Amino acid sequence: MTDLTDELGTDEIIRSLASGAPTTWLRSTGTEAALPDLGDVMNSAAARFDRFAPWFAETFPETATVPAELASAFPDVSGGMIESALVPAPAAQHRLDGLFGAEPGGRLWLKRDDSLPVSGSIKARGGFHEVLEFAEAVAAEHGLDALDPATYSNREFRAIAANHRIVVGSTGNLGLSIGILSARLGFAASVHMSADAREWKKTKLRDHGVDVIEHAGDFVEAVEAGRASAEAAENTHFVDDEDSVSLFAGYSVAALRLERQFAAAGVTIDEQNPLTVYLPCGIGGGPGGVTFGLKRVFGTAVRCIFVEPSQAPAMFLGVRTGRHSGISVQDIGLSGATAADGLAVARPSRFIGPTIGPLISGFAAVPDEVIRAGVGVLHETEGFDVEPSATAGLTIPWRMGDAAARSATGVHLVWLTGGAMVPGDERAAYVDHGLGLVERISSPASAIFVD
Ligand SMILES: Cc1ncc(COP(=O)(O)O)c(C=O)c1O
Repeated sequence: MTDLTDELGTDEIIRSLASGAPTTWLRSTGTEAALPDLGDVMNSAAARFDRFAPWFAETFPETATVPAELASAFPDVSGGMIESALVPAPAAQHRLDGLFGAEPGGRLWLKRDDSLPVSGSIKARGGFHEVLEFAEAVAAEHGLDALDPATYSNREFRAIAANHRIVVGSTGNLGLSIGILSARLGFAASVHMSADAREWKKTKLRDHGVDVIEHAGDFVEAVEAGRASAEAAENTHFVDDEDSVSLFAGYSVAALRLERQFAAAGVTIDEQNPLTVYLPCGIGGGPGGVTFGLKRVFGTAVRCIFVEPSQAPAMFLGVRTGRHSGISVQDIGLSGATAADGLAVARPSRFIGPTIGPLISGFAAVPDEVIRAGVGVLHETEGFDVEPSATAGLTIPWRMGDAAARSATGVHLVWLTGGAMVPGDERAAYVDHGLGLVERISSPASAIFVD
């Protein structure tokens, strides 16, 4: 551990984080905090997705009909929906009870954003939304009917779009979402990728005609380079993952959908049956947007816990110290490196911590071995495979000590955030590695702090 300054060194939670140990911090204040006034961004983003549903259904045939697992929650939707299933996971729960030798109670459910259509990760929600918002602005600016989905398939719009560029910096999945959708709408697109980004993500984007710019540095550097390249350029929109309300609004729509999914499954969420949600966190936009939406929908009946790799707990550190983007994990001697490439972020969003921080009920940091083992547990028990970033939250109900018992009558919802696009050989390697670690998933135990 590096020498911490006095102020940081006296905080036992920061000391635990800085040692790289698995750490859980549960806050009693989270659920009562007032929602920030951001206007009605969630409903306006939901309306935008609805407007584009016919375009999605036509452009991506896999979305043309609503899949069976979503039909009961969305009987009124005919197609073009970017949504994932909500599924109970009794086998995984039973296995984890055994591995941890403890039963937190409640019921384990999984949100399957690992298989969101088109780009296979939670980033589709925010990334698609920002691209669609930009497309509407460009259409309106050129006198086209921005609210008519047919506009986006006609030649006139595509000719205009070809003259506009969308730029983003990404660890991989946001770039994939933005790049694929931009290209389909006819926009030029540039994705600045950090060193952590997987090779197959770059290849896939290039196959879509997207310009991929590789950076030897980390995510913050990739974002900086993207921002700088967009600044002076004409007709160029920079998607700022560190500071975007449009991304955030897109993520929040998940909450409206989840409300309907729980209702369709006959699951009540209220004060007596609380919902605890475990969200993998990188820069914080995805989990921040989802948290904002969930608080709007479920109020004090929901608690959101952000989960990060123990070498890259950027949001945890930013919120705990109150320094937000003014502190990086390297400042406390951590490397920022992790096998969970989507979570390889050393410095948190400028926007999420200050705005959403008070709504977050807890933070957890877990080592890469635990994250990797989660891939093995899901393969073994539920029979599907995700990428490592997705499983960060899987063990947290078992890493909350007595605090988990508060939800003994409730739902533990582990948000699985990515995986469907991973190529077969890489997926098989994740599974092999994960299966080898399953028996060790409960160790080391987490240091648990409650305040
Ligand atoms: C699979 C996966 N999960 C979670 C996240 C975290 O999202 P955010 O960086 O918005 O916190 C990412 C980010 O890229 C991701 O790719």
